[in-house]
Amino acid sequence: MPTTQKLACDVKDFGLAGKGKTRIEWASQWMPVLSLIRKRFAEERPLEGIRISACLHVTTETANLAITLRDGGAEVVVCASNPLSTQDDVAASMVQDFHIPVFAIKGEDKDTYYSHIVSALDHKPQITMDDGADLVTTILTKRQELVSGVLGGTEETTTGVIRLRSMAKDGALKYPIIAVNDADTKHLFDNRYGTGQSTVDGVIRATNLLFAGLHVVVAGYGWCGHGVAMRAKGLGAQVAVTEVNPTRAIEAVMDGLQVMPMAEAAKWGDVFVTVTGNKSVIRGEHFQMMKDGAVVANSGHFNVELDLPALEEMAIGKRQSREFVDEYTLPDKRKIYVLGEGRLINLVAAEGHPAVVMDMSFADQSLCVEHIVKHARQLVPKVYPVPTEIDQTVARLKLESLGVTIDKLTPEQVEYLASWSEGT
Ligand SMILES: NC(=O)c1ccc[n+]([C@@H]2O[C@H](COP(=O)([O-])OP(=O)(O)OC[C@H]3O[C@@H](n4cnc5c(N)ncnc54)[C@H](O)[C@@H]3O)[C@@H](O)[C@H]2O)c1
Repeated sequence: MPTTQKLACDVKDFGLAGKGKTRIEWASQWMPVLSLIRKRFAEERPLEGIRISACLHVTTETANLAITLRDGGAEVVVCASNPLSTQDDVAASMVQDFHIPVFAIKGEDKDTYYSHIVSALDHKPQITMDDGADLVTTILTKRQELVSGVLGGTEETTTGVIRLRSMAKDGALKYPIIAVNDADTKHLFDNRYGTGQSTVDGVIRATNLLFAGLHVVVAGYGWCGHGVAMRAKGLGAQVAVTEVNPTRAIEAVMDGLQVMPMAEAAKWGDVFVTVTGNKSVIRGEHFQMMKDGAVVANSGHFNVELDLPALEEMAIGKRQSREFVDEYTLPDKRKIYVLGEGRLINLVAAEGHPAVVMDMSFADQSLCVEHIVKHARQLVPKVYPVPTEIDQTVARLKLESLGVTIDKLTPEQVEYLASWSEGT
């Protein structure tokens, strides 16, 4: 399409667009809630003329979100939220077939990654949509002149919400943000079932390992950790959890998993997956104790959960064994295999979350953007939860799309639940 030439963008290869388009359409079939919102948006145009900059993993699901916002009248620009998570065919199709400017190339270096964020901000967004708070952070540190034009933003992931809450606590946050991650219809499904399945998928695609019989160590038993542990166990692995939170550790014990500190798990595990949102969870002292052939991956947001500089320092050799698998040789000839350079393995080696769960997360995103546009005047610079009506609407629509019906409270039950009376 001629518009491709007109749009400022940076994608790998427009020759990939055809493949990207069919994959975007495939994902759309599994996103019925987002499709309903898209239809309503196209009729009502609630986002007419609103400039949105979105820093998200550039996947088929994100393409469907961007199309929904565009059909609602918004002018959307997308950049990557991770240098390795971009699907180049999708990026090409978003520009060529859907006329949405995209700045993202899989494998881009750090400078290009940040230059793409800057390009997305040159759009002068009225709404920012983040997965890890990079847009907000860049605006607040390097592009403060944009603050006055921003109505608000949304945040997709746990780590981003943590960063934004710290900013709000320090008085540094300058515009309102809705923590989409904290919606029940987001983290209970996306983080648990989405990250769970796709992380195991990423490890398997990178290595072709058989999970049955493996010792799998999951660091962090939050929503993502629950999902990874559950799926690894389901494939026949023995699973151990490492935690720092006593309540979550008890939960893991009662879910039938082993719980131990990393110093013990390092000796026990065959495969390690970090999903803590913390840094240096697996360090030099742990790599030092691992079995020959241990496989180490991260699915937390940033690539700091594995202390790879320490491993680099210890290793006497490094080579690529397979795509997304780096083999490190230690002085005693033991090999440690690191997947996807320690970046979120479900997006690096697999395709990220299945569309079925992103349907809910991105329905939340779309409705939160609409909420910000409608209520911008009442919102102040702080981190807001997703409004309950949005969370419940998304749950109800998802259930309907699955053909599942549930009971309704009778008037007597409504009265009973609202009263102090005892159940005699
Ligand atoms: N890969 C993906 O696609 C994807 C999707 C959603 C979230 N995430 C990211 O995954 C990470 C986890 O998200 P979540 O929603 O499960 O968060 P969460 O807060 O629910 O869980 C994190 C858990 O890690 C534990 N933890 C912290 N430091 C630890 C340490 N040193 N050792 C062991 N455990 C430790 C915490 O106690 C907590 O229970 C975040 O960075 C989030 O942004 C990734």
